[in-house]
Order: sequence, then structure tokens, then C-alpha cells
Amino acid sequence: MSAPVPSFYDDLGETLAEAWRLIGRGVADRRSPFHHPTAATIGIDGRPQARTVILRSCDAAGRTLRFHTDGRSEKVRELAADGRIGLHFYDPGSKIQLRLAGVATLHRDDAVADAAWAGSRAFSRQCYGIEPGPGVEIGAGGAFALPEGTDEATAGGRANFCAVVASVTALEWLYLAAAGHRRARFRWDGEALDATWLAP
Ligand SMILES: Cc1cc2nc3c(=O)[nH]c(=O)nc-3n(C[C@H](O)[C@H](O)[C@H](O)COP(=O)(O)O)c2cc1C
Repeated sequence: MSAPVPSFYDDLGETLAEAWRLIGRGVADRRSPFHHPTAATIGIDGRPQARTVILRSCDAAGRTLRFHTDGRSEKVRELAADGRIGLHFYDPGSKIQLRLAGVATLHRDDAVADAAWAGSRAFSRQCYGIEPGPGVEIGAGGAFALPEGTDEATAGGRANFCAVVASVTALEWLYLAAAGHRRARFRWDGEALDATWLAP
């Protein structure tokens, strides 16, 4: 006998709620596969660019996600040129993939950035003080310097710190199940939600 299907299996509303629940767990639980999504941007040359980031916060009601990065990084240059962003999550345990589309805003010198910086630990702040900045060519693998991990030493990294807030406009769900896969798409136009099943 096959395992019973979860309550969200054939319920669009529960599917969406489960998606946000998993994303929320990704923020809180460092061991969750949803803790480190892939963020995709449009490269300056038009090519797709993708990289792992750590999910720092999620607001299901406001449909926003936040991650942190270095303001000198290539992704910030890309998002400043075109704020469209994709976020990809996959949990091999639950066999659930999420693909989010949204628009990113960059916060370097405002209350959002201040609060995000205040909420991060010295260990996390350390990388924003790296010299030279991320992506700069160096003559040897170790030819860069990081500040000490103290509050005082890492304070200088604040000038490079950037909080990226993605406002989600679409979410696509894929659940691989022995009983039959389920794929659903949720799109928002303002507060109006369009939800539909898709052929997997
Ligand atoms: C597990 C993991 C977590 C990462 N988290 C972040 C992060 O939260 N923010 C970030 O800017 N880069 C993070 N990185 C590094 C990025 O994947 C990427 O290499 C770096 O930001 C440079 O990307 P860019 O040149 O596209 O800007 C992480 C990498 C790994 C492997």
C-alpha cells in the first residue's frame, strides 16, 4: 500500500500555505534545504547568472524574501540594472521544488539595511570587510584580507553591506509524488491572486 498523500496534495490553498511554511522554515532552520536557495539574475551581458545565497527573512503576508550580500558584488550591479530576480529551492527529502519570480530592491543606506546589519552576527559581518572586493582578480588564491571577527573590526564592512529584498510576483510549486506529480502556479497582480494547477 502506498503512503497517504499529504493534505496539500490536491488543494491549491494548502499548497500555497505549505510553500510559504517551507520558506519560513528555511529562514529559521539552518539545516533546511530551503535555507540556501539559488538566486538568479540577468547578467550585464544578458546571460543568466545563478548563485547560492542564505535566506535571511521571509514575510508571507507581504510576499517578500530577504538575503544579504556585498554591495560591490556582481549581482548587485546586475540587480541595479534590472531588478528582476528568480529564486529556486529544492528539498530532496520532501521532493518539493519552488521557483519564485520577483523584483528586487537594494538596501545599502536605509532603515532596512540598518536593521539587517544590526541583526547579523560578527561572524557574518566579517565577509563584508574583505579586501579587495568580491570578484576582483588576485595574484594568488589567498591574496585577500578579512577583518578580525570582532564587532570593532567588522564595523567597517557596513559600508559594503547590502540587503536584497525580493518582492514575489509568482511562485511555482512542483511536488514529485509516487501517486502522481503535482505542479501549481500562483501569480499576483497587486493583491489579486491567480492560482492554477499545471501539467507537470
Ligand atoms: C552555502 C553558500 C551560501 C552563500 N550565501 C551567500 C549569501 O548569503 N550572500 C552572498 O552574497 N553570497 C553568498 N554565497 C556566495 C555566492 O554563491 C556567490 O559565489 C557570491 O556572492 C558571488 O556572486 P556574484 O559574483 O554573482 O555576485 C554563498 C555561497 C554558498 C556556497
